[in-house]
Amino acid sequence: MKLAVVGTGYVGLVTGACFAEMGHKVTCVDIDVEKVAKLKEGWMPIYEPGLKAIVVRNHEEGRLLFTTSLAEAMVDTEIVFIAVGTPPGEDGSADLKHVLAVAREIGANLSDYAVVVTKSTVPVGTAEKVHAAVSKALAARGSDLGFDVVSNPEFLKEGAAVEDFMKPDRIVVGVDSDRSRDVMHELYKDFSRNHDRILFMGVKDAEMTKYAGNAMLATKISFMNEVANLCDLLGVDVENVRLGIGSDSRIGYSFIYPGCGYGGSCFPKDVRALIHTAGENDYQSMVLQAVHQRNEDQKHVLFRKITARFGNDLSGLTFGLWGLAFKPGTDDIRDAPAIVLIGELIAAGAKVKAYDPEALDAARAELPTQWLDEGLVALVRHQYEALEQVDALALVTEWKPFRHPDFRAIKAMMKQPIVFDGRNQYEPAAVKIAGFEYRGIGRKA
Ligand SMILES: NC(=O)c1ccc[n+]([C@@H]2O[C@H](COP(=O)([O-])OP(=O)(O)OC[C@H]3O[C@@H](n4cnc5c(N)ncnc54)[C@H](O)[C@@H]3O)[C@@H](O)[C@H]2O)c1
Repeated sequence: MKLAVVGTGYVGLVTGACFAEMGHKVTCVDIDVEKVAKLKEGWMPIYEPGLKAIVVRNHEEGRLLFTTSLAEAMVDTEIVFIAVGTPPGEDGSADLKHVLAVAREIGANLSDYAVVVTKSTVPVGTAEKVHAAVSKALAARGSDLGFDVVSNPEFLKEGAAVEDFMKPDRIVVGVDSDRSRDVMHELYKDFSRNHDRILFMGVKDAEMTKYAGNAMLATKISFMNEVANLCDLLGVDVENVRLGIGSDSRIGYSFIYPGCGYGGSCFPKDVRALIHTAGENDYQSMVLQAVHQRNEDQKHVLFRKITARFGNDLSGLTFGLWGLAFKPGTDDIRDAPAIVLIGELIAAGAKVKAYDPEALDAARAELPTQWLDEGLVALVRHQYEALEQVDALALVTEWKPFRHPDFRAIKAMMKQPIVFDGRNQYEPAAVKIAGFEYRGIGRKA
């Protein structure tokens, strides 16, 4: 099949590359001229395990093309995916300006029947808006070409995006015509050979499914963070509680690790967007508001532990920080707890030496240049370099290389052997035996 994917970010690039890997001819479109030029040269705009090899191979074999021209990508195309960003507006609603701009452009360039697919995470009712925008652009050309709009939300996880796309738990497809259903079945049947994973449903049902899924996962995290904070107050070890409740098959072990809050480009914005959708419909989303508030507060928990130990004025102190990405396996620092913590440490007078295996460049682009120029934040290239002459280590992202550091070596480098463990990565007793003062979230030291 011939496909176009508009928006070449985490979702669009993975989608385009994986469909090309399945033998389809895919053109990826982006308005970012530099990104497109670099992709043509085999440069990856994001870090995602396994992605580069697929992109480069399929590009070389002519199945995966990159362009800034949607008109060029639309020639003979049977399916057009919209995979542009839907960032939060001021009020928390999903901003649809990029999605609708693409819809208008599709209408302006459609030359035969095509299926227009919203892969971006979009609120219930967006497919109707996309349909209206395409129709209006077609009418402006005096055209009455047929097309269908389908909702096909994406469930990939950053850090395992290729694996998730190639072996999905389920493929949710919202359709309202037999023709578009057949087209989507043809496209996805290869991802479902072992057993049928395609769930066809109504378009609005599919739009809601994506939000409900992310909201449920965010709820589990915020719930467990609340339990962990209570454990802290009560002198209970949350790790034992996690194992105790996770063993109940109705609860399960996934997504019940406490930490310093969820981040990334999805959970925070999708929870807020769903709260906003509820409000628009005169409904108060009590659960999700609490989930969001707990998460906002949780991002400050590590800082509170630091000031409880060192006092509110951190002048003259330097903190080593391991992990900038919002989770391991990605270079994405959008809404990352580490960025919040760095801001708080600087505001309290401290300096920070930070290390991340993949997110240093993203952090350099995001952090105020003044902090970097004045040496308030040093972004270092080795994890142990972040600990030279620091007063404590704050562990924020659970990258694997942080799991078993050489505590004896790092103790010799640090001014004081203190660990603030934002991800409950370490066994408190073992860290204490190594001579460290240990402060985790909900962990008995
Ligand atoms: N990142 C994830 O893990 C993930 C997972 C599932 C769903 N989603 C959803 O998928 C959507 C995309 O997310 P992302 O993380 O890939 O975003 P992203 O910011 O990484 O990429 C979006 C891309 O769209 C491009 N773009 C914007 N307007 C355009 C236009 N008019 N024409 C062509 N290109 C345009 C941008 O230049 C950018 O490269 C969002 O709705 C997000 O919520 C993301």
